Amino acid sequence: MKSKSHFQDKVIWITGASSGIGEEMCYQFSELGAKLIISARNEGQLKRVNAQLPRNPGSAMVLPLDLEMISDLAEKVINAISYYGKIDLLINNAGIAVRDFAKNTSIEIDQKLMNINYFGSVALSKGLLPYFEAQESGHIVVVSSLSGKYGVPKLAAYAAPKHALHGFYESLRSELMDTGIFISLIIPGIIQTEITAHAVLGKGENYGKVETAFKKAYPVEKAVRKMIGAIEKRKEEYYVGGPEGFTLWVNRFSPWLLRRLIRNHPLKKIRSIKEKLFFWN
Ligand SMILES: NC(=O)c1ccc[n+]([C@@H]2O[C@H](COP(=O)([O-])OP(=O)(O)OC[C@H]3O[C@@H](n4cnc5c(N)ncnc54)[C@H](OP(=O)(O)O)[C@@H]3O)[C@@H](O)[C@H]2O)c1
Repeated sequence: MKSKSHFQDKVIWITGASSGIGEEMCYQFSELGAKLIISARNEGQLKRVNAQLPRNPGSAMVLPLDLEMISDLAEKVINAISYYGKIDLLINNAGIAVRDFAKNTSIEIDQKLMNINYFGSVALSKGLLPYFEAQESGHIVVVSSLSGKYGVPKLAAYAAPKHALHGFYESLRSELMDTGIFISLIIPGIIQTEITAHAVLGKGENYGKVETAFKKAYPVEKAVRKMIGAIEKRKEEYYVGGPEGFTLWVNRFSPWLLRRLIRNHPLKKIRSIKEKLFFWN
């Protein structure tokens, strides 16, 4: 007999569920017997994902939301809780990227990314905290990035909210010690999704291209399987991706060296270093 999965009947709220990592999470958590609440802006895409769930297609609560609309999010939390009467896990996965130099990026775009990638996540977590405290359990998962650990050219507006997530959630974790509420920060490397196609340029235009590095990147199915393993183990911080993860070690032990390596063309540089160090291609 198949053993019961850790996530069987757990209520999991996934943001950014309409594509990429979030979409794949929906399929894998559904396979594991979880009950899902799925959010993003595009309701049509959420319905498509819902209809494709491997177990009980169409069974998820589709809860469209725009993380930029911070003042709407408290009500979304109430809607989410009332559907199943509880929530066990919140996965703050939604996010957008930027591809432009800081000097060419308008302050409105800096603020937009801060709202979507940082304040939106914080608002949902804060909304849920009183419920998690009352039920004396809960797990908040935050999808960060290597850009949450160090900066590279053309990603300033993206790196800022990703760094902020670490500051906020590490502080929150220390406040929640021994409460039964857990925080996991996931750091994906370069994962095969269309994140760059959805990215914005400095004045808000759509970037629209899937970059080569992302076409050849770490498969999203494998990345999500590993993320789910880390979530089950309640890892506090977890890296998933290809050998580009070695930059975390370089940054920890010699931030000076990493800064010089990534000054120009970071992806090309990282790839050439990986090839030299790991014979990887
Ligand atoms: N792929 C990578 O290599 C990589 C690396 C490091 C970190 N990450 C992180 O992983 C997460 C998922 O990215 P992905 O690669 O799966 O990219 P993706 O395919 O572009 O997915 C992004 C998701 O976020 C949602 N979203 C965007 N803006 C939103 C808003 N204003 N309100 C609500 N939802 C919004 C999108 O849905 P709608 O457009 O329907 O709203 C979509 O479902 C992001 O936080 C990203 O920073 C990805």
